[in-house]
Amino acid sequence: MKVASNKISDIIKHYQTMLNKNYDNNSSNQLIRELISFYIKIPFNELSLNFDKRISESQLLDIHFGTKRLLKNEPIQYIIGETEFLDLTLKVNKHTLIPRPETEELALIIEKSLKNKPTNELKILDIGTGSGCIALSIQKISNAEVIGIDFSAEALLIARENSELNNVPVKFKQVDFLSKEERDNLPNFDIIISNPPYVQNSEKSLMQKNVLDFEPESALFVENNNPLIFYKAIEEFAKSHLNNGGCIWLEINEYLSKETAILFEDRSTDVEIINDFRDKSRFIKVTY
Ligand SMILES: C[S@@+](CC[C@H](N)C(=O)[O-])C[C@H]1O[C@@H](n2cnc3c(N)ncnc32)[C@H](O)[C@@H]1O
Repeated sequence: MKVASNKISDIIKHYQTMLNKNYDNNSSNQLIRELISFYIKIPFNELSLNFDKRISESQLLDIHFGTKRLLKNEPIQYIIGETEFLDLTLKVNKHTLIPRPETEELALIIEKSLKNKPTNELKILDIGTGSGCIALSIQKISNAEVIGIDFSAEALLIARENSELNNVPVKFKQVDFLSKEERDNLPNFDIIISNPPYVQNSEKSLMQKNVLDFEPESALFVENNNPLIFYKAIEEFAKSHLNNGGCIWLEINEYLSKETAILFEDRSTDVEIINDFRDKSRFIKVTY
């Protein structure tokens, strides 16, 4: 079947029908509109005002190949190369996790905790920064010095690009946080934040194919026999590198919230498990 014409309304109809093979009707409609709006550079919410507009052959080709990638379950964020995180537009690619709504919620909770407080003396660390989403959003609303670290050089390239694009100056550094020697070379901090890999290999069967096939494995998974490896390293790091009165904010595996909280109980004054908007135990705040 050929596209009836180069009019946006015909293109939506044609490619939505194709996408219906893999997605429900609402998702197909949403995805094709996102793809078109990206390639023809018209804001998503203005697309319906432009249904009679005709697009160029090269734009049609982009949409055609974008649809083929969607049909292979590739996330749209990787196809168009960007996503939104709070009020930031961020580049993403196969080396960076696509930031999740839960992580936006964590960043918002942290932002709220910093509101109306003097932040210019604070040093904040984001461990496993990926696209830089958490570090950039916290830097944007504060005068603190924010440092984002990741072991992936490719992810850090994207994080630095996002810092420039959004005009938010965060320092990014390549550090393997599981190497005691490398992490001990970091300075001291007042706030440590992390959304580290926390999905157990055994949970793979519960996950969507588009995540498993396209998102970086090293950003997501930990071994079943040591699923809290990053949290243990963070607790140990905090002993020597968290300033007095500091705190830690963590995104956690909902199935391991109690075990994760216990790791921090001995030395802290308070460990709070916080539920996310889906009412799952998803964050921990540790106060020292
Ligand atoms: C769950 S992702 C979080 C990415 C981003 N902060 C977010 O919230 O979307 C975990 C990140 O940890 C990084 N990572 C994995 N192993 C690491 C290690 N040993 N040292 C430092 N970073 C690591 C991955 O590259 C990935 O970017």
